[in-house]
Amino acid sequence: MEPSTISRSSTLVRAAIAVDGTQAELAVAAWELAGVYNSSVEYLLEETTEEPWPGHDNRTERAEVAAYLPAQQWHQLEPAARDAAADLLGSEPLFSVKRLPDRDWRTAWHDHFDIVRVPGPTTIVIRPPHKPHKADADELVIDLVPGLAFGTGQHQSTRLCLRLLSEQIRGGERVLDVGTGSGILAVAAAKLGAAAVTATDIDPLAVDAARQTARRNGLAGRIDVREASIPDGERYDLVIANLTADLLQLLAADLVAALGSGGRLIVSGLIEPRLGEVRESLEGVGLELLAVEPEDDWRGMLFSKSRL
Ligand SMILES: C[S@@+](CC[C@H](N)C(=O)[O-])C[C@H]1O[C@@H](n2cnc3c(N)ncnc32)[C@H](O)[C@@H]1O
Repeated sequence: MEPSTISRSSTLVRAAIAVDGTQAELAVAAWELAGVYNSSVEYLLEETTEEPWPGHDNRTERAEVAAYLPAQQWHQLEPAARDAAADLLGSEPLFSVKRLPDRDWRTAWHDHFDIVRVPGPTTIVIRPPHKPHKADADELVIDLVPGLAFGTGQHQSTRLCLRLLSEQIRGGERVLDVGTGSGILAVAAAKLGAAAVTATDIDPLAVDAARQTARRNGLAGRIDVREASIPDGERYDLVIANLTADLLQLLAADLVAALGSGGRLIVSGLIEPRLGEVRESLEGVGLELLAVEPEDDWRGMLFSKSRL
């Protein structure tokens, strides 16, 4: 088994920003501004004391956006996290911080990671090392060590990209995966038949994780992992970007510039209420929407760039 980045001795904390369900993405963005790119959104349905109108559900959706960190790291970034949350959420944000019980964190993730199966034209199976799984002939298996970076297949936004990728890749494409995290989408693209895959991330830990995932899947030579955002002056047949609604809007012009004539763009990482604004930004830079893919409240979109 590959060494974990979290040692047995470090104390871990769960630091969470409590928000309204609709503000979860802003809290994710606050964590990112503080340098944490793998926060997790944990939704809670709250009962109210009022009786609902017959046939209606008046529970409210709350969310906690949690980061699981070594205590020392939390102390270092707490001021930045609180400032970013106050800026983005517009009020005094509520943080809850608790120490996680001591245990062997090197294997704690085993509790949470089972095999993930993503149906599509090709069924994609994500297999963590502690779960033996003999693949069927029609399955595409990705071997992945969870916990190194975002992108384990547990999150809807990743699964939406995997589904769209399995529909879009015919073989031979040049693919760019922006914000590769664990490298899961880059590996899927290569295994589905892409000719060349470039995977970028601005987080050096994600870059290491993606290289490790590529190696683990025997694809080190076919996936070019770079610590970068969107490479200048390069053109791809297919670009995938599982980021956030804010980042997608910010990067819209660069994403379209990375597409060759007739190229396709898959975006994900947004919830339904943010769909319209992201769609408008991408249509505003000349892309045409081809499909919206839903899973729970999350949405993925497929766009194309017109042929010149
Ligand atoms: C939601 S994760 C997606 C991981 C993986 N691609 C997946 O689909 O599961 C977003 C990743 O984008 C990276 N990121 C954030 N801003 C970025 C930027 N401007 N350019 C490249 N990567 C970025 C983060 O470090 C993080 O690893």
